[in-house]
Amino acid sequence: MNRAAVEWTFFCITPLGLEELAALELQHKITMLGRDSVQINLLKGGFEVTLPWEQGRGLVHILKIPTRVLVRLCVFKARDFAKAFNKLKSLPWTQWITHPEVEFEVSANECRLIQTTRMREVSEDALKAALKASPLSLRYQKESIAPETIYLRGVKDEWTVSMDLCGDPLYKRGLSLIKDLAPIRENLAAAALFALKDKLSQKHHLWDPMCGSGTFVFEAENFHQPSQRFFSYQTSVLNLGVPPWKSKTGELESLFSSAKGSDILSGLIEKLGSPFFTHDFFSPPPQLERPSVVVMNPPYGERIKLPVSIEVFQKNLIDQIDQLKINDALIVKPLSWRPFITQNYSTTTLFRVSNGGIDVEMIHLKRRS
Ligand SMILES: C[S@@+](CC[C@H](N)C(=O)[O-])C[C@H]1O[C@@H](n2cnc3c(N)ncnc32)[C@H](O)[C@@H]1O
Repeated sequence: MNRAAVEWTFFCITPLGLEELAALELQHKITMLGRDSVQINLLKGGFEVTLPWEQGRGLVHILKIPTRVLVRLCVFKARDFAKAFNKLKSLPWTQWITHPEVEFEVSANECRLIQTTRMREVSEDALKAALKASPLSLRYQKESIAPETIYLRGVKDEWTVSMDLCGDPLYKRGLSLIKDLAPIRENLAAAALFALKDKLSQKHHLWDPMCGSGTFVFEAENFHQPSQRFFSYQTSVLNLGVPPWKSKTGELESLFSSAKGSDILSGLIEKLGSPFFTHDFFSPPPQLERPSVVVMNPPYGERIKLPVSIEVFQKNLIDQIDQLKINDALIVKPLSWRPFITQNYSTTTLFRVSNGGIDVEMIHLKRRS
């Protein structure tokens, strides 16, 4: 069997509200998979694409906005646990998994079998029975392969069985050197940069003057490059004998001409090294290349306290951006804050999302001409 050529449907899970942007990211990077185009099926919470295995596994390497990629294995109908057990027991598990102790993630919506804990137990029992009849090889022991995660998603009594291709979620890039108090999640930073890039008339230098652990800078530097960390698909049966994935176009053009970050906390900056430097945003600015775009996730006044009221802080931020003669800026603004009031800039919301439990919006400030 030529496993590389077998077609599968892949489901890319995205934060709610970022489905379309993530699909645009795939279109932007599609040549890395060795294609000109792809049919994308947008769904709530993600999108589906059907691709040969050889290409589809590349989704985890190239996409920076989704949180996970799953491969769809099969669909069955079940309205009682006995039927679900029999169905699950009859599935060709040895063609999909390497480890006998699968982690089942179960969710159910408008299903007769609404008790997800019971459905997980039934799945575990069915798998045990299936593997008793048709055992797995001991490859998982010899190669120390971790258990696969299988997603069982029931909607109106139809159950979709999918397998995770990632292991750690995709936003764990294996890149950041430190994590400060309130980092922005990597895939949200990547989404903000990708959405911002679309608003810029030319390629800009990026400066994050409140960089914390430097997430925006790392995401700007790596958005166009395939990720090389370990993904669980690499030890999967579906990948057995298929040569390692490689981008068909190497890396794409970067989103920004350069990226640097600064922060008032010198201890943080020392750990980060270059291209980071210690700087108080409200002091005289460093030399800025032109055109520069300022991207920042300021303290919200919750986990990190503000020196002044939120209103005054918001005004100070805008005044400083204005004095720097910056034409474009992106600010991560909690929804609870008032809109930015400014005469010299128009403001647009790129998207809204929950960041670590706080609802925020990505605001694009554009200097009025
Ligand atoms: C919410 S955190 C940024 C988190 C960052 N985006 C990340 O992913 O790690 C806000 C940062 O602003 C920094 N900060 C606060 N006031 C500042 C100022 N006046 N100048 C420079 N940095 C400042 C804090 O030290 C903190 O690291």
